[in-house]
Amino acid sequence: MRFLTYGSTNIDLIFTVDHILEGGETLQSSNLVKSAGGKGANQSTALAKAGAEVYHAGKIGEDGAFLLDLLCSWGVDTRYVRSYDGATGQALIQVDRNGQNAIILYGGGNKAITIEEIEETLDDFGDGDMLVLQNEIVHTAHLITSAKERGMRVCMNIAPFDPSVFDLPLDLLDLLVVNEIEGAALAEMEGGSPFEAILDRLVARYPTTEILLTVGADGSYYGFASNRIHQPIIEAEVVDTTAAGDTYIGYYLAAIGRGYSPKEAMYRATKASAITVSQSGAMASIPYAQEVFD
Ligand code: RIB
Repeated sequence: MRFLTYGSTNIDLIFTVDHILEGGETLQSSNLVKSAGGKGANQSTALAKAGAEVYHAGKIGEDGAFLLDLLCSWGVDTRYVRSYDGATGQALIQVDRNGQNAIILYGGGNKAITIEEIEETLDDFGDGDMLVLQNEIVHTAHLITSAKERGMRVCMNIAPFDPSVFDLPLDLLDLLVVNEIEGAALAEMEGGSPFEAILDRLVARYPTTEILLTVGADGSYYGFASNRIHQPIIEAEVVDTTAAGDTYIGYYLAAIGRGYSPKEAMYRATKASAITVSQSGAMASIPYAQEVFD
């Protein structure tokens, strides 16, 4: 299976802080690292490190050239990443003493992607290929419908969640990935509703779509038709949770591409994420296949 991630490519500025900044507060950080990130590029990296054939599509400015070098070094095919005369997407990330983060995004090139570029890229893909999406770029509805018209399978993680997600043709997706807050919002349920109930509602609402519900310390849930699976987390020392979700998705898809069942793919994805959270950074913290599949 070939994977095409159409997605964000960001320069991450990671500040290590005691706690996440509050309104009106000024805080010293004990460390600052400039690194490679973006949910889309992280997903591509996870797929590539997991051994899958992956193409990354998106847009960057001159300041993002180092991102391409890194993606290539991990085996991501970057021929569909366009350049433009503007800034690359940026993420200002605070990581606190518990490894939890808070992120501010600047869209940059991620928001300058055009329909023409999308069409030109999708023309090279079709039946048997999978499009991987998140919610950090523009024209996502067009991407979903156009990829489906070409016979591709489509997976989307709707993070970072915003109300525009309600306007997307999510019923066309083959795989929908949500966390508990996003899941409850899509299911039109109260926050704090039981995970199983959220999952049941989503399965009923999107009957042709496999659902992955990731719920932090409680692991992840899978639902499709009458099939339900729960995968608990694998304990790890948490240093930085950045890119844990992207790692999970990349490894889940790569495992499915290798012919694993959803249950086994969830286990591999969980193992990969546990390694990611135990190390600092986004792409750099994503493990290689031998650490996860052996
Ligand atoms: O999921 C983590 C990613 O979210 C970071 O790399 C940052 O760029 C934001 O897109």
